[in-house]
This record gives sequence, structure tokens and C-alpha cells, in this order.
Amino acid sequence: MMAFSEQMEADLSMIEPVLRRCFQDREPRAGLYEAMTYSLLAGGKRIRPILTLETCRMCGGNPEQALPFACAVEMIHTYSLIHDDLPCMDDDDLRRGRPTNHKVFGEAMAVLAGDGLLTAAFELALSARDLEPGRMVAATACLAAAAGDRGMVGGQALDIAAEGRGISQKELEQLQTLKTGALISAAAEIGCIVAGGSREQREAVSLYARKLGRAFQIRDDMLDVEGDEKTLGKTVGSDNANEKATFVTMLGLNACRDVVSRLTEEAVSALSQFEHPEFLHRLAETLIDRKK
Ligand code: IPE
Ligand code: IPE
Ligand code: MG
Ligand code: MG
Ligand code: MG
Repeated sequence: MMAFSEQMEADLSMIEPVLRRCFQDREPRAGLYEAMTYSLLAGGKRIRPILTLETCRMCGGNPEQALPFACAVEMIHTYSLIHDDLPCMDDDDLRRGRPTNHKVFGEAMAVLAGDGLLTAAFELALSARDLEPGRMVAATACLAAAAGDRGMVGGQALDIAAEGRGISQKELEQLQTLKTGALISAAAEIGCIVAGGSREQREAVSLYARKLGRAFQIRDDMLDVEGDEKTLGKTVGSDNANEKATFVTMLGLNACRDVVSRLTEEAVSALSQFEHPEFLHRLAETLIDRKK
């Protein structure tokens, strides 16, 4: 079996060319494609599409079949970041090491770039070839549910509504489960669906990803306080400026570290039924002390 970092490189070398080619042959639309690709190709970590490919592999499927879905998830994630940075949302200036989309293209074009990516994601997902129609429908439904009002969009609404207000830890967990956990969980489940995994496998993969998603957002909250702007590629101190409810304000940095470790252990142990969970183990563990 390939070493972790080689496997990661191999996955990225599947994902990046698909994203790069996506809008290459389109007729110009007044700078819309420039705005869309500016953020899409700015070098995110690609954690979500990697999850899709790797859960597919772990469940005995062919990652090539999951590739359009993997890239669709990344498009939806990128759209969520463009909108998250808008002045009416988190009002941030730096993302993926570059000025935010609206800083370069203006607010209207940034909104449209997000809309374009969201829609293109479903077109791409539906282009998955040689996939059994039942799996195609299930995977696309999973993506839609996670992206929308019952998932990421719902969580973003709770996040905005919680600004400047004290909320309970339970409410914060719910908010983060939706805004971040839902799409991460869908990314993982879709790989299993494409592979034709069993119900038990899908449940295990989902549990792994929900734990991972919680750890991921808490680490994100920590990095907003203790991160280095240059390494992180986004504005540090944004949550404080917006009076956001975060795990750091709730528990403090040290307790956050413990919670991230515990959630990661729980994520890893959710995969005990699989023969080769090694990659996803390592992935979870490397995210504990990520710097970006
Ligand atoms: C940032 O996501 C927003 C959160 C949900 C925490 P990532 O940390 O995955 O950002 P990129 O894709 O690497 O830029
Ligand atoms: C955003 O959470 C999650 C999304 C759905 C985009 P944050 O607002 O904390 O993400 P960053 O820190 O700006 O990347
Ligand atoms: Mg936000
Ligand atoms: Mg933000
Ligand atoms: Mg954040």
C-alpha cells in the first residue's frame, strides 16, 4: 500500500486537473469565469474531495467513479467560502492566501461566482459516467441535503444569528455540525455510496466524518486566534471582530486542544470494521495540529 503522503499526492493529482479543466472551454461571461476559477484554483487543502476518493477506496470502490462527486463537493465548499467572506457575512479580506473574491471582482460578481459554482457542482456530479443510476441519485441527494437549508446553509444562518449573542454549548455544537460537519460528512458518505457500500459501512463512514468535522471546525476556531496569517492564508482575529460564538470563546484554547484530540480518537475508532482504514486514520491525526 502507498505511504500516506504519496497517496495524498496521488489523490490531488486526480482532483486538480478536473477542477482546472471545468470551465476552460466556456464562452466568456463578463468576468464570471475569472471570478469562479480565481477562488476554485487558489489552492485549498482539498480535504473534502480527498475524503470522497478515500472512503470510496476503503469501501472497495473505484475512486475514478467518485471523482466528479469529489470535485462537486469542492465546488460547493468554495462557493460557501466566497459567500462566507462577503461584507454582509464575515467581511474578510484574505482567503487561500489571496484577497477575497469580492475584493477583486466586486460583491455582485462574488455572489454570482458562488451561485455559478453551486450550480456547476450538480452538473458535474450528474456527469459521473458508468455509475449505476440508483447510486447516482443517492449520492446527488446526499450532496443536496448537506449543502442546503438542513446542512451548510442552515448552519451559516445559525452562525450569523448567533453573532454578538451568548449561545449554549449545545447550540454551538448544532451550529458547527451544520455549517461544517454536514458537507464533510456528505463528502465521506458519497464515496461509500459510489462504491456500493453497505448500510453499516455508510453509517461508520458518516460517524467518522461527523467526528472529524467537529474537530476540524474547533481547530479552525483555534487557528483564528493562534494561527499565523501568512501560513493560514486567511485573516486571523476575524471571529473576535465579528463577536462570533466559537469553541475558543466557550472553552478556551487548552480545553479546545483536548476536545479536538478526543473527537479525533472517536473518529478513528469509528472505522474499526474496515480492512484498510489506515489512510483515513492518518488524515484525521494530521488535522489535529494543522497550521492551515
Ligand atoms: C474552511 O475550510 C472553512 C471551514 C469550514 C472551517 P478549509 O479549512 O477546508 O479551507 P480550504 O478549502 O483549505 O481553503
Ligand atoms: C465557515 O466557518 C464555514 C462555512 C460554511 C464556509 P468560518 O467562517 O469559521 O470559516 P473561515 O474561518 O472563514 O474559513
Ligand atoms: Mg463564517
Ligand atoms: Mg468566515
Ligand atoms: Mg473560522
